[in-house]
Amino acid sequence: MDVKKLSLEDRAAMCNGVGYWYTQAVEGLDSIMMSDGPHGLRKENRDEEKGTVERVKATCFPSAAGLACSWNEELIGEVGKTLAKEAKAEQVSVILGPGVNMKRSPLCGRNFEYFSEDPYLAGKLATAYVNGVQGEGVGTSLKHFAVNSQETRRFTIDEVVSERALRETYLPAFEMVVKEAQPKTIMASYNKINGVHACENKWLLTDLLRKEWGFKGLVTSDWKAVTDIGKALEAGCDITMPATKGEFPRRIVQMVKEGTLDEKYVNESAQRVADLAEWGLSTVDKNATYDRDENHAVAADIARECMVLLKNDGMLPLNKGESVAIIGGFARNPRFQGGGSSHVETTKVDDIFENFEQIGGGQLVYAQGYPEDTDQPDDALIAEAVEAAKKCGKAIIFSGLPDSYESEGYDRTHMRMPESHNRLIEEVAKVCPDTAVVFSAGSPAEMPWISSVNALLHAYLGGQALGKAIAEIVYGDINPSGKLAETHPIKLKDNPTYGFYPGDLETSVHSEDIYIGYRWYEKKEIPVNFPFGFGLSYTKYEYESISVDKTEMTDEDTLTVTVKVKNVGKRDGKEVVELYTAAPENAVELRPVKELKGFKKVFIKAGESAEVTFTLSKRSFAFWDVHEHMWRVPTGKYKILVGSSSVDVPLAAEVNIEEKNPPCHPITLETTFGKLIRNSSYKDIVEDVVGAFGSKNAVRILTSEEAKADPVYTHYQNHTPRRSFYTGYSYEYIEDVVEKANKKLGF
Ligand code: BGC
Repeated sequence: MDVKKLSLEDRAAMCNGVGYWYTQAVEGLDSIMMSDGPHGLRKENRDEEKGTVERVKATCFPSAAGLACSWNEELIGEVGKTLAKEAKAEQVSVILGPGVNMKRSPLCGRNFEYFSEDPYLAGKLATAYVNGVQGEGVGTSLKHFAVNSQETRRFTIDEVVSERALRETYLPAFEMVVKEAQPKTIMASYNKINGVHACENKWLLTDLLRKEWGFKGLVTSDWKAVTDIGKALEAGCDITMPATKGEFPRRIVQMVKEGTLDEKYVNESAQRVADLAEWGLSTVDKNATYDRDENHAVAADIARECMVLLKNDGMLPLNKGESVAIIGGFARNPRFQGGGSSHVETTKVDDIFENFEQIGGGQLVYAQGYPEDTDQPDDALIAEAVEAAKKCGKAIIFSGLPDSYESEGYDRTHMRMPESHNRLIEEVAKVCPDTAVVFSAGSPAEMPWISSVNALLHAYLGGQALGKAIAEIVYGDINPSGKLAETHPIKLKDNPTYGFYPGDLETSVHSEDIYIGYRWYEKKEIPVNFPFGFGLSYTKYEYESISVDKTEMTDEDTLTVTVKVKNVGKRDGKEVVELYTAAPENAVELRPVKELKGFKKVFIKAGESAEVTFTLSKRSFAFWDVHEHMWRVPTGKYKILVGSSSVDVPLAAEVNIEEKNPPCHPITLETTFGKLIRNSSYKDIVEDVVGAFGSKNAVRILTSEEAKADPVYTHYQNHTPRRSFYTGYSYEYIEDVVEKANKKLGF
């Protein structure tokens, strides 16, 4: 449909939603529905007049924090497909997800809805999700664009963040999904970024998103995020959600008539709404249905790969038939999803205890362990649990963070578990020689009892079928294969945002810059409870060999890395092979110790090996140069490190990369020798310039051995600008050298 044929009033109306979830219908074009549902459809049937809301039942999958632990793109594609089938059956055209915000602090109330602290991992997994959903003819909404890493004052907070942290940390996941999957829509977040609301941010929504990344879809506001509809349209926010009782459309018409808003913005945005609606309507299938039991089974398949075995002294797997104390209210009333707009009205929820009975059999004794309505320890409940554990000799304690701890709309203020859970674990572990903890939460918590338990399984928020998945892992039917997509620090104080998060009343300053997650803990050598990428299995893998297809390349080439991994244990299993790159040791730029740039999950039979290949390119090695405003790979020797977690990378290879087109500017009196020597675009003038000052200042290009032998002189020479030679030479002479060099460079 060509919206220019519509009246201005209709076009203006299309730039605002109808009710909570619909686009505006116009003559010849019906409306479509959007619904929440990153990990389960949350379709609401609202009767605005009566003020009633009916929530449609749907399957709840593990939330993104858990899904990410699968490190399995194919599996997440399956989640997407299954979600899309449910959406189609409910005539929903766009699922409002996935969320790819970075986990800046473990306290963010919505961390359970986000994938990772690492943009590469989040980007890859979200790409798989979007392709899965959209392949079935349902759209997605990549959210919350951008830097929405806290819930405190989320509507107004100004995220003060450097250009480099934006480019390297907060934007790449969005960029990857846009470039590799073209989500039908993107949701602009509530917060400001460096002073400008995301929904009114032209740099973000037009210059970067559309012009630089090539986004073709529609930008929607987060719900109630827009203050100034004119500015939002000018910035490129096409539709403001939800409806505003006609106010925004009225203002749009008025602004166009008064000449304060260019009609072209209204046309462009209305056209995008029309295009999306046309696409949505073209894929509608009125007869679509799905089977709830089948999808519950899919949810169990997914959950199995999302659980992370974090500690195991050999206690797990349990033998079937043995007597075990099953302790903790979560065993009967599980914690499996988070609160807020992603909360799913489930079709059913596993009772974990029942699954243990079915899968493990044996003598199971249940004890509640902690009260449901308070965080305070209950001595009687603890005593009962201790008795059960003593009697059975083995105990599995279901604990974690209760519902009220994690939700959209607010952040945690501390990283502790309820005292009732901590005390219970400590008391049971004292008397029971074999105590395992199954931990359910959407983010990390301090675990003061960690050294006194024998095993720990992190179930994250495992979705409605978590019970089966947990029981299968605990009893060994399934070999665990999840790995952490975020670091679990020992205590909150170790986190880089401690003392800065969630900012003051107006701003949240990203003082830690690019050093979030493992980039921080590695740089500062801070010990953690469990590192990024870590997860145990019931088998063992040996990283055998690594090879690269070249050792010299330019930053325009690609590099193929091949590694061999052997399953040296007795059980078949799935291993996540992780690849990190590290910048040259003498890099001038500040770089993290290493960064994830590839991963693959492979199934390896016991005793067999698997070959895994990775293709690396410029972005695998690049940093964002804030002076040049571009991605750069400065010439040097880069490392490729491969292994089973961020702290276990036994395989290493090196590659010399030459920067093909380093930025080249006219040299000035400020230009240092170091800059000339490091940047190959100055190679034709280095000799001239150095030679010109050589006789009186003994300046010359040092060999790397000489540089190593005399670091003080090297430092002096590298950082000395031209102007400082006036003691030996006249200013005219120096300026003449500079001018001649620039001429040779073509300036
Ligand atoms: C949330 C979004 C959600 C929207 C609609 C907002 O409050 O931030 O993630 O999609 O509501 O429910």
